[in-house]
Amino acid sequence: MSLLFPKWTNALPTVGAIAALLGASGVVGGFWYYATPKFYDAGYMPTQPGGGFSHQIHAGKLGMDCRYCHTKVEQSPEANIPNVATCIGCHADGRLTKLAVEPKHKERTDFIRQAYNANQSIEWRRIHKLPDYVRNFPHATHIRAGVSCYSCHGQIDAMPIVAQAQPLSMGWCLDCHRNPEASLVSPDKVTQLEWVKKHLDERGGQGDAETKALVEKLKLNPPENCGACHY
Ligand code: HEC
Ligand code: HEC
Ligand code: HEC
Ligand code: HEC
Ligand code: HEC
Repeated sequence: MSLLFPKWTNALPTVGAIAALLGASGVVGGFWYYATPKFYDAGYMPTQPGGGFSHQIHAGKLGMDCRYCHTKVEQSPEANIPNVATCIGCHADGRLTKLAVEPKHKERTDFIRQAYNANQSIEWRRIHKLPDYVRNFPHATHIRAGVSCYSCHGQIDAMPIVAQAQPLSMGWCLDCHRNPEASLVSPDKVTQLEWVKKHLDERGGQGDAETKALVEKLKLNPPENCGACHY
């Protein structure tokens, strides 16, 4: 036993007994929460490798489109994280020559070249994560329907380090599924976060003639039945 299991597992039957005794949903819920470490909440912002990747610089200041790096977001359920080769396209030795001689910039970006030269990937820490009992969340369907990254991830292009902006709770998903018009924009604008924010603010949580037409044209019908999101 002691060979196979670390010492702390001896306490497990006690934990189980206490949970069974109290039985209150709050306690179980709390235990569930702590027992599911991949399940994060709004505001979650882990420390990232190399001091982090700044969306504020790349998507904001330099104006790079989300799809330059998250290349599959329109076609697949998952939005991919770019590999280090994408970064090397600009951050290789000899590129960005004026910046590269600046000590601070060099120091801040050395971890990229180190990873690339060692043929390793950069271990970015995951931020948004649904619990496993929710089926794979389909990015492509939402993007094509005209739901902007902004509605679910907030003002990413102003974030030096990404933090979770929305709770990703069931109530939050359903709020939009019951009234999608309030959040829709023309599908070709979904990655223009500044424009979307301004446009949605001006509309004040209402749909307009354009979104009505969009719902009809694309025959949008966000699901509310349990099986659409759960196994
Ligand atoms: C130059 C490449 C690049 C561009 C452009 C870019 N991203 Fe990213 N994105 C990354 C990298 C690298 C990560 C992983 C590191 C991190 O989480 O900050 C990431 C992470 C994210 C995450 C968090 C993923 C998680 O773990 O939950 C979101 C959300 C995201 N990006 C959205 C966007 C949006 C929206 C845009 C366009 C406004 C955008 N990105 C533009 C490279 C990019
Ligand atoms: C299209 C070119 C381009 C690509 C692709 C690119 N970068 Fe950059 N990056 C830049 C430029 C230009 C700067 C300097 C911007 C400035 O200082 O205003 C920069 C700056 C940085 C910095 C320094 C930030 C700081 O605070 O000084 C880091 C770190 C960085 N990039 C990481 C990455 C990573 C990681 C990737 C890949 C996911 C990536 N970059 C992809 C062009 C690029
Ligand atoms: C309708 C809400 C919604 C929209 C719109 C949306 N996302 Fe996401 N995004 C999520 C959720 C929810 C997750 C977590 C998915 C999971 O855990 O399976 C996520 C995760 C991610 C991740 C981490 C990798 C992954 O796929 O799990 C990246 C990167 C990302 N989103 C980028 C984007 C970009 C870029 C856009 C816009 C082009 C976008 N997202 C639009 C809700 C959304
Ligand atoms: C801001 C609005 C918005 C939010 C938030 C949102 N959705 Fe959706 N969702 C939509 C719209 C619009 C559609 C309809 C797409 C269509 O009919 O083509 C949709 C469709 C879907 C579908 C059906 C996909 C298909 O292939 O038919 C699933 C599953 C889904 N959403 C899951 C989720 C989950 C899970 C969340 C929360 C983590 C979520 N959505 C949050 C707007 C949203
Ligand atoms: C649009 C997608 C969607 C639909 C439809 C949906 N759920 Fe969920 N459900 C979720 C998400 C996302 C979570 C994760 C909750 C969280 O993170 O707080 C969840 C969580 C849950 C949980 C875990 C307890 C909790 O609240 O955290 C239960 C139980 C559940 N759903 C039951 C149902 C039932 C029953 C239905 C049908 C009446 C249903 N769901 C329909 C998205 C959905």
